Amino acid sequence: MIKKCLFPAAGYGTRFLPVTKAMPKEMLPILTKPLIQYGVEEAMEAGCSIMSIITGRGKRAITDHFDISYELEHQIKGSSKENLLEEIRQIIKKCTFTYTRQNEMKGLGDAIYQGNALVGDSDPFAVVLADDLCVNPKGDGILKQMVELYNKYKCCIVAIMEVPKDEVYKYGVIEGNILENDVFMVSNMVEKPEIDKAPSNLAVIGRYILTPDIFKMIEDTKPGKNGEIQITDALCEQAKKSMVIAYKFKGKRFDCGSVDGFVEATNYFYNLEK
Ligand code: UTP
Repeated sequence: MIKKCLFPAAGYGTRFLPVTKAMPKEMLPILTKPLIQYGVEEAMEAGCSIMSIITGRGKRAITDHFDISYELEHQIKGSSKENLLEEIRQIIKKCTFTYTRQNEMKGLGDAIYQGNALVGDSDPFAVVLADDLCVNPKGDGILKQMVELYNKYKCCIVAIMEVPKDEVYKYGVIEGNILENDVFMVSNMVEKPEIDKAPSNLAVIGRYILTPDIFKMIEDTKPGKNGEIQITDALCEQAKKSMVIAYKFKGKRFDCGSVDGFVEATNYFYNLEK
């Protein structure tokens, strides 16, 4: 069983400046709910109950969001607004939140490495990048689909989607052989390749299942693209030494780390609620 989910949330979110100057990107709302709450709900649906968040300077709002606000509770008690807090109350009741800080923003690989202190060395864990908002209106959430696949293959899994060839430079891109419908055995991974050097148009998005041996792989990973420790590079080594699966998930992903994707997600959820 995968009980722990890691949320790297220490990045600067520079594409959303100036709003991210004093506010975490993960707290940007899609309608009335912050991005990270959507991620936590997806992790709960997949069976996780320990949410481990990698924070950094200026991210206090995340910690406060997943805690009781007694003053507010007192203020709205008995009013019609009380039910607006119901969902978050349930999350706080059912989950345990743990935190650590990434002191220097040395990349996603390093952020995940800092999470070792929270998730330990004995069990596999999930990773959710909250700025990738994923939905599957027709069935199980993306992380739940991945946990089921983990139960079969017992190795690291990355979620992938097909992207237009001219957008591969924004992603980690995989090369692999089909194992079964929508499931690939990874043979190579490249972070943000040039368009004509990309091994495919299968791009990694912000959902992973990792086994704890990944921490040793990250330790041995040198800074890569943009001078950052890339999880793609660590996973590529893992794929060569043992096995990594890439899974073409069922559902839809919004890139809420970009303004376009954020607006698209907002419209999607607004139309759903109308
Ligand atoms: P991004 O590169 O999308 O996030 O990292 P960013 O750096 O915050 O955004 P921009 O590009 O400046 O606008 C993907 C995820 O990895 C986390 C981010 O918080 C985000 O969830 N991350 C990235 C870290 O936690 N630490 C890092 O050093 C880098």
